[in-house]
Amino acid sequence: MTKNEFLWGGSIAAHQCEGAWDQDGKGIGIMDLVTQGTYEKPREICKTIDPDKLYPSHEGIDFYHRYKEDIALLAEMGFKALRISIDWSRIYPKGDEAEPNQLGIQFYQNVVDELLKHDIEPIVTLYHFEMPVHLVREYGSWVNPKVVEFYLNYCQTMFEALKGKVRYWVTFNEMNHIDPQTEASDIFTYIIAGLKYTEMENKKQTLATISYNMTLASVKAVKIARTIDPENQVGCVFGLTPAYPLNCDPQNVMNSFKETDREFYQIDAMCMGKFPEYKLKEYQVQGIELIVSEEDASAFAEGKLDFIGLNYYSSSVAHYEGDDENEETLFGGTQNPYLQQSKWGWAIDPTGLRYLLNYIYRRYGLPIIITENGLGAVDQLEADGTIQDDYRIEYVQKHLEQMEKAIVEDYVDCFGYLMWGPIDLVSATTGEMKKRYGFIYVDKNDDQTGSLARIKKKSFTWYQELIKAKSTF
Ligand code: BG6
Repeated sequence: MTKNEFLWGGSIAAHQCEGAWDQDGKGIGIMDLVTQGTYEKPREICKTIDPDKLYPSHEGIDFYHRYKEDIALLAEMGFKALRISIDWSRIYPKGDEAEPNQLGIQFYQNVVDELLKHDIEPIVTLYHFEMPVHLVREYGSWVNPKVVEFYLNYCQTMFEALKGKVRYWVTFNEMNHIDPQTEASDIFTYIIAGLKYTEMENKKQTLATISYNMTLASVKAVKIARTIDPENQVGCVFGLTPAYPLNCDPQNVMNSFKETDREFYQIDAMCMGKFPEYKLKEYQVQGIELIVSEEDASAFAEGKLDFIGLNYYSSSVAHYEGDDENEETLFGGTQNPYLQQSKWGWAIDPTGLRYLLNYIYRRYGLPIIITENGLGAVDQLEADGTIQDDYRIEYVQKHLEQMEKAIVEDYVDCFGYLMWGPIDLVSATTGEMKKRYGFIYVDKNDDQTGSLARIKKKSFTWYQELIKAKSTF
């Protein structure tokens, strides 16, 4: 990669693509216990593996064995960067061992070497819904500060193992869905912390503690990364949704601000050098106990992020007085009449991307990389072997237009665009294969049949040409 070259590429996550869930010493990760669901039927979170049920992470798309072939295809598209995640349970199968699993480390070294061989910059997420189940069962997950120590030890292992090869690190993916102020669905608290919302005692206190401990873990990891290699650039990824007001009723505008802003307190903590006072006061009033020790305060001061990763899929409409009867879907709430929705009910809103890029950049002044964006859609494999996914091209194209406006007209420092799931993989929220994002089709169906063959979609060539045509903004 040449310096200042825009990082065109994509993002994938271990539990959604690797498979090989019990190979080469891997332990059980939280997502290995989650069945396949659909849009209508939520994924089931099991205590043990039931042989009569389907668990999509067990095979994924078999990236574990096919990563060379997959990376070669991404390289053919001209990828400058690929964001991968490391599955913690491959490195420390239970999470609390004294020594790491060398086979797990070797796998990620191989993947990173393969990327570098193709001149693709690896961007490595250390926690993308992948936590050893043992840490949840034995220690109670992130409520317990010991888990922060285990996480930091794991991070240190990986910073050392990939030193000099990986420059961009991401401490966590989307911890922002944890917020004590909002009701959560089981799948959201589970994917982030391995705990079901409905089973949590003292929900607000539990969520506040989890969130605080994860935020603290992130700033501490930043410091370790820099100590090991001053060249390391460390970011954190947030999945953000602007919540628009229903109309210009000032109360609705205020609701909109509050609803959008409530996902930002962890970013404030990671970028402004201290855990925000407004959040601590809010906790105090609600009887939530949280003590920022002196040691924690210095960790926040010393562990500020180098960049922010933005996952953006859609906008929403903020709650308003009297909307209680509205039907709640997974992504909830009122549908915006100005926007179309994907088949999974996600509003398609390219302008929301420009809005967020501006909002974030003006608030923190840090470089931003779009770490996820894309359209989950049903693709049709035609009799002639082609996939005509014009809707995907249109989706990405429109979002890129807004990204370009943010960079060129609004002067936002955005250094890359990583499309989510450039190769079809398992959906995180529903567990389906049918919900496809890729430029590359994977022949696998929800009943687990299929040859796993990789087929280029129409969008493959489109993205390839786009990357070729534009190396900077
Ligand atoms: C993001 C997650 O929030 O959304 C990804 O980081 C996930 O892991 C993506 O796959 C899209 O969601 P889904 O449910 O369509 O896979």
